[in-house]
Parts: sequence; structure tokens; C-alpha cells
Amino acid sequence: MTIEPQSIDWDALRLVAKEALTHAYVPYSKFPVGVAAIVDDGRVISGANVENASYGLTLCAECSMVSALHMSGGGKLVAFTCVDGKGNALMPCGRCRQLLFEHSAEGMLLETVSGIKTIDEVIPDAFGPRTLEEYRGE
Ligand code: THU
Repeated sequence: MTIEPQSIDWDALRLVAKEALTHAYVPYSKFPVGVAAIVDDGRVISGANVENASYGLTLCAECSMVSALHMSGGGKLVAFTCVDGKGNALMPCGRCRQLLFEHSAEGMLLETVSGIKTIDEVIPDAFGPRTLEEYRGE
């Protein structure tokens, strides 16, 4: 399925991400991250990073957003943006691309440092739910 980039109000979505990062808990890195996404039912969800004194336990902003996705009714992600504390576009880390893929609608769009990309472009040939279904013969 093709989702047209022009059909998304990226400015509005970025504003939601910027508001989200004001809730970041980043005493260690001092690097707040805010994310926002549109769900396939039109809901807008957001998240911010939450760090931990045991550094490796840090929750990226995408983690809190995926929790918000399910706590507010589930669904699939249609469009996503991620900003740093200066409001600049930020590329989701590798782990979070996997996380986003799991919950992506087909053709999901992401605003990235190099323009609007599809989920398949930012995590090609991804391992995901369909890999397991195919293995089980479903
Ligand atoms: N971070 C995110 O929240 N999302 C990403 O996709 C990249 C990195 C956070 C984790 C950590 O709190 C801070 O950025 C510095 O690595």
C-alpha cells in the first residue's frame, strides 16, 4: 500500500514530538528525544526517552510511544517523526527501527534526516512477525 507523503501534516506531527520531548527523563545523556506517530485510525500518539542509572536499561522515546500505542487501543503506525532537543530530525536507532517495524502499517512513512522514507527503506528485509508466520506455515 502507498501512503502519500503529502497526505501527512508533518509540521503538526513534529510539534507533537517537540511537546513530547519536554517530558523526557534524561539526567545522564542530557539528550532528550521526542517522537510522534499517526495510527491507522487517525489517533496521534507520542513518547519521550526515559533513562536509567543502569544506562543499558534506558527506554528510547520509541519504547514509550509503543507503550502508548497499546495503552490507547493498539493499531498500526502510518507516519512517524523523531526529533532531538533542538527540534532537528533524528534517525531512530537500529533497535527502534525494529520496534517500529513490528507495529508498522504497510508502507509506513518516516520523516528522517534524509527526507521522507518508508519503513522498508529504513529496515530492509526486516525480520518480523511474517517471518515467524511463514516458518510455522501460516
Ligand atoms: N534515543 C532515543 O530515545 N531514540 C533513538 O532512536 C535514539 C536514541 C535516546 C536514548 C538515550 O536516552 C539518548 O537518546 C542518548 O542515546
